[in-house]
Amino acid sequence: MSILITGGAGYIGSHTLVELSQFNYDFIVYDNLSNSSQESLKRVEKIIGKSITFINGDIRDSEKLKEVFSNYTIDSVIHFAGLKAVGQSVEQPLEYYDNNVVGTLRLLEVMKEFACKKIVFSSSATVYSEVDAKNYTPLTESNPVGGTTNPYGTSKYMIERILEDLYISDNSFKIAILRYFNPVGAHESGTIGEDPNGIPNNLMPFISQVAVGKREYLSVFGSDYDTHDGTGVRDYIHVVDLSIAHVKAIEYLGTDALASAIGETKVSLPKINPLIVNIGTGVGYSVLDVVKAFEKASGKEVLYRLVDRRAGDIAKCYANPSYAKEVLGWEATKTLEQMCEDSWRWQSNNPNGYNCDK
Ligand code: NAD
Ligand code: WQD
Repeated sequence: MSILITGGAGYIGSHTLVELSQFNYDFIVYDNLSNSSQESLKRVEKIIGKSITFINGDIRDSEKLKEVFSNYTIDSVIHFAGLKAVGQSVEQPLEYYDNNVVGTLRLLEVMKEFACKKIVFSSSATVYSEVDAKNYTPLTESNPVGGTTNPYGTSKYMIERILEDLYISDNSFKIAILRYFNPVGAHESGTIGEDPNGIPNNLMPFISQVAVGKREYLSVFGSDYDTHDGTGVRDYIHVVDLSIAHVKAIEYLGTDALASAIGETKVSLPKINPLIVNIGTGVGYSVLDVVKAFEKASGKEVLYRLVDRRAGDIAKCYANPSYAKEVLGWEATKTLEQMCEDSWRWQSNNPNGYNCDK
């Protein structure tokens, strides 16, 4: 029995493989390598000390998926595969809806055909409707969703709805929807991490590249927000904490993919289905807080310039993560300091990411 990990060669997927392995789960990686390379899997193999079954395939390719479900006994799916760049999604909406929404439909059809009915889905805090900064409270799972402002966010919202409707039609499906806040950091080995193509869109990889000398300075988007220092506040979550949340979600759904029982990893909790849960720390840090923490962790100066707000950004976004603790027994443990130290170890050991020729 194995867990199929779509998008398992990517940033969050590769870290989740390490944690799944720690808890003795069997898995198979299915990825089209459109935003990753097999090098990440080779590095994971070194960390976990065993080889990984990898299938180079696209989630939109039903025939290939059927082949996988025929050749392996798939107990459950952790579904990371998707495109994730907000700005690019505005330029290429059809590609994003095709890849993310149509891809998920194809995957779910094949899962249904093979009676594989457990899925953990990578959703995002971006599904929440825009928050009025003046009346801001941390986001709980019952906050309104769907007021998305770009095709990427809309694709996540659509998939959530598809999963909910699937459950209504067939309540033998067991579904966990994880709404991630801002994943950052890297495995403490410094051998796997986030490897964006081209100029990073996200804050932490951009800061890392300034610190390592690949970029001259950070543009801080907006310094007149209603926050403690005027810069945007977000809930940064260490990717290892986030990965552990997937192990908890898989346990919650009740999997048979344990290679062998090592200790009591299965939990028995009242089941909510579909489970929709925020994965964040509950603590908000500003852009300048992150810059300062990164400088301390790296011992490098991070030059920055205050520039205009970025279109579509909001002042503050952070989670109320108490539901995750209640239902999954999960909570974040890693600090901003650790997030910066681990990001820096990855970036400084691998200035060109996985590709030495970049
Ligand atoms: P990533 O790009 O590093 O990983 C995604 C992986 O999916 C890549 O390896 C890519 O090659 C693969 N992939 C893409 N389209 C595919 C397809 N059609 N078929 C097969 N494989 C495909 O991204 P990540 O940061 O690891 O994100 C993983 C998931 O989490 C994504 O669904 C993303 O939208 C979601 N998410 C990410 C963040 C974030 O900030 N990183 C936040 C919230 C949600
Ligand atoms: C964080 C803060 C920026 C870059 C995005 C997606 C979201 C989710 C996570 C996938 C903001 C500021 C950034 C820079 C800056 N992804 N910033 N200079 O926008 O909160 O969320 O990634 O689901 O859907 O929208 O993350 O890292 O881009 O920005 O000042 O060069 O850093 O304005 O305040 P964001 P981010």
